[in-house]
Amino acid sequence: MDAIILTTERLQLRKMRNDDVNHLMEIFSDPEAMKYYPSTKSEKEALEWVNWTLDNYRNYGVGLWIVEDKQTGEFLGQCGMVLQKIDGAVEMEIGYLFARRAWGKGFATEAALACKKYGFETLKLPKLVSLIDPDNSPSIKVAERIGMTVEKKIHKWKKDVLVYSVCK
Ligand SMILES: CC(C)(COP(=O)(O)OP(=O)(O)OC[C@H]1O[C@@H](n2cnc3c(N)ncnc32)[C@H](O)[C@@H]1OP(=O)(O)O)[C@@H](O)C(=O)NCCC(=O)NCCS
Repeated sequence: MDAIILTTERLQLRKMRNDDVNHLMEIFSDPEAMKYYPSTKSEKEALEWVNWTLDNYRNYGVGLWIVEDKQTGEFLGQCGMVLQKIDGAVEMEIGYLFARRAWGKGFATEAALACKKYGFETLKLPKLVSLIDPDNSPSIKVAERIGMTVEKKIHKWKKDVLVYSVCK
């Protein structure tokens, strides 16, 4: 099926659709999962998120993808590539947000590693980044497990953010 972008040992990453709003709400309505975002999101905001993602597919050929269990198709989270402006330059970020029931199983690292391979081998990018709140240690651990190291601290989204990066 052409909606599948990447597969790993346990996961498949497929294109997001409008009817994923319900899936996304499991993450967006959870204050624990949204701890390092400005707030939880409403259904209307989730639909805006899907539309932003569909625009990213159209404009840049990449965006966040839906992560599912490869065997069962169960929704687990989202992971993918998003363009970010950092100190005036445009960089490609690997982003990941998973449902809380899917934490602690290595899924985010497995999905992010597949995105890293895609970024370097298919898109031929020289560098990938992740922008992370300094207190978000689970996210920092994912970045470190895929080989990223902290490059600098920037001010973005009205707060301090660490730029983790890895070069090819
Ligand atoms: C960031 C986030 C995806 C990290 O999730 P996570 O479950 O900690 O990360 P992983 O999926 O890589 O799982 C790693 C953990 O699973 C454990 N694990 C269990 N079984 C495993 C397996 N088969 N393979 C690998 N790891 C396994 C690892 O030991 C590790 O545990 P540890 O961190 O206690 O050492 C999650 O916290 C999240 O969705 N947060 C909300 C959104 C968010 O903040 N996103 C980041 C924005 S920058």
